[in-house]
Amino acid sequence: MDDAIIEADSVSKSFSLGKNKSIDILKDISFTAYSNEFLSIIGPSGSGKSTLLKCVSGLLEPTTGLVKVNALNPYLLSPAKIAKMRRTEIGFIFQSYNLVPALPVLENIVLPLRLSGKKISNSKVEVLLNSMNFSADLGSFVNTLSGGEQQKVAIARVLVTNAKIIFADEPTGAVDESSKELIFNILRKLADNGACVVMVTHDIDLASKTDRALILKDGKLVKVLNKPDTTGLLEMIEKG
Ligand SMILES: Nc1ncnc2c1ncn2[C@@H]1O[C@H](COP(=O)(O)OP(=O)(O)OP(=O)(O)O)[C@@H](O)[C@H]1O
Ligand SMILES: [Mg+2]
Repeated sequence: MDDAIIEADSVSKSFSLGKNKSIDILKDISFTAYSNEFLSIIGPSGSGKSTLLKCVSGLLEPTTGLVKVNALNPYLLSPAKIAKMRRTEIGFIFQSYNLVPALPVLENIVLPLRLSGKKISNSKVEVLLNSMNFSADLGSFVNTLSGGEQQKVAIARVLVTNAKIIFADEPTGAVDESSKELIFNILRKLADNGACVVMVTHDIDLASKTDRALILKDGKLVKVLNKPDTTGLLEMIEKG
């Protein structure tokens, strides 16, 4: 039996909009994700996908409801413990990459390893980047790269840590079709080898190759599709 890695229990998130006003973004979302599982989150723009990913990964505390990562509530851990968990157990690929513009490609990728005092293998970084068809120079500053290249750097930065829990927010949003396949296959393999991968995507074809798809609409989890196929996904998304 695979282990429960992420548990969301009635997670809701509201944002304050100033005086006595707030907006409800996530509404009562519950799900569990297991080791060895590749989960996709799919839904229209603004439906709360990125917010949900942040809430269940320890980055953004829900307004109400409970989150557990590896059986621990990340929001009850000390800052030092949560920082360590983020460096060693959890990898988060941000929709907006969150790279350090003042550092070159290589330094961006090895930053998490440096911070945790781990050994750095340049050849491992090269292998990772090659496996995604990355062709820019490792010495280039990331702000000189294309969006797709920056996305690959953000992915490599997570993969190099060997994290077993991976959150990926539209990890193929900026890359071409062939790179999309390569990146998807890397994530698929990680899940097949025991990791828990949760990926937000707008891509129905990719979602259909994950183990389970969570369909989000207006902040609500409207459907969970096991072994989703493109027809089932399209039907859910077009329902409106
Ligand atoms: N800090 C915040 N304060 C107020 N509103 C916010 C905040 N963060 C997100 N929102 C709102 O929450 C809603 C959901 O945002 P979110 O980024 O989770 O959507 P998404 O499903 O990831 O969309 P996309 O597909 O465009 O990335 C949006 O309407 C957004 O404006
Ligand atoms: Mg988003």
